[in-house]
Amino acid sequence: MSGSEYRDVVRLENIQMHYGNVQALSDINFAVGRNEIVGLIGDNGAGKSTLIKIMTGVERPTAGNLYIRDKKVDWEGYSVGRAHELRFETVYQEKSLGEKQPLWRNFFVGRQITNRLGFIKVKQQKQIANDVLLNQIGFRGAGIDADSPVAQLSGGERQGVAIGRAMHFDSDLIVLDEPTVALAITEVRKVLDFVRGIKESGRACVYIEHNLAHVHELADRLVVLDRGRVVREIHKGEMSLAELTSALIDLQHAKVETAEAGS
Ligand SMILES: Nc1ncnc2c1ncn2[C@@H]1O[C@H](COP(=O)(O)OP(=O)(O)OP(=O)(O)O)[C@@H](O)[C@H]1O
Ligand SMILES: [Mg+2]
Repeated sequence: MSGSEYRDVVRLENIQMHYGNVQALSDINFAVGRNEIVGLIGDNGAGKSTLIKIMTGVERPTAGNLYIRDKKVDWEGYSVGRAHELRFETVYQEKSLGEKQPLWRNFFVGRQITNRLGFIKVKQQKQIANDVLLNQIGFRGAGIDADSPVAQLSGGERQGVAIGRAMHFDSDLIVLDEPTVALAITEVRKVLDFVRGIKESGRACVYIEHNLAHVHELADRLVVLDRGRVVREIHKGEMSLAELTSALIDLQHAKVETAEAGS
């Protein structure tokens, strides 16, 4: 992690995003502090994924500014690769791991450790992968090590490998877009523990999640998006889960009423 001083690992200012006639994001101001876990919540189509795509260099916004570690970044030079270099890691739900390969290979995809002749240092890579699996993300007792094939892992464990990889590569910010979607309950628990590990390791995280109980438990701050706008921010401890749930239901009702008034 970076030793330099900064307040926000990432900050987006006045972001607008149009897809043709669709205004996916309007006037978004969104920041993530160092070692802060921010839960991003909101209905389907609220703009959550669009926001993190802009943050991680997948998409360029129609307008707005980006600051990384408090320094303004030019969109021209910003890309997924550049975000990587700036130590942002994104974990995607879908198919991020190669099924037939052993874990350690997946761990080092695109970032092989090689010697001067370009040969891959297999032993060293296995050792690192094992260390991260056992000590950093706590794959204890599961009988899984760097040689296990990915096909043998449960959905939650796969997410764990992806998160462990992100942690190993010296990331300051880890972005998770619904990491628990389509997982069994026992698997979800594992992923929540991995997210806790991100916090404990001193990194920051943006965590998109539909399950309110999960983000309420883990996030230092919740940001609620609604139809492309930030409509609410809630700090840890400010609301119980029941209060949060009812606040979001109230928001829904207000939305239905405005829609009816407008029709
Ligand atoms: N590539 C695209 N082209 C056109 N419209 C898009 C594109 N990507 C997103 N949108 C639109 O932008 C809006 C926000 O979508 P986004 O995927 O960011 O929502 P989300 O909050 O992540 O939703 P979900 O919870 O369903 O994942 C939606 O209206 C969506 O249809
Ligand atoms: Mg989404």
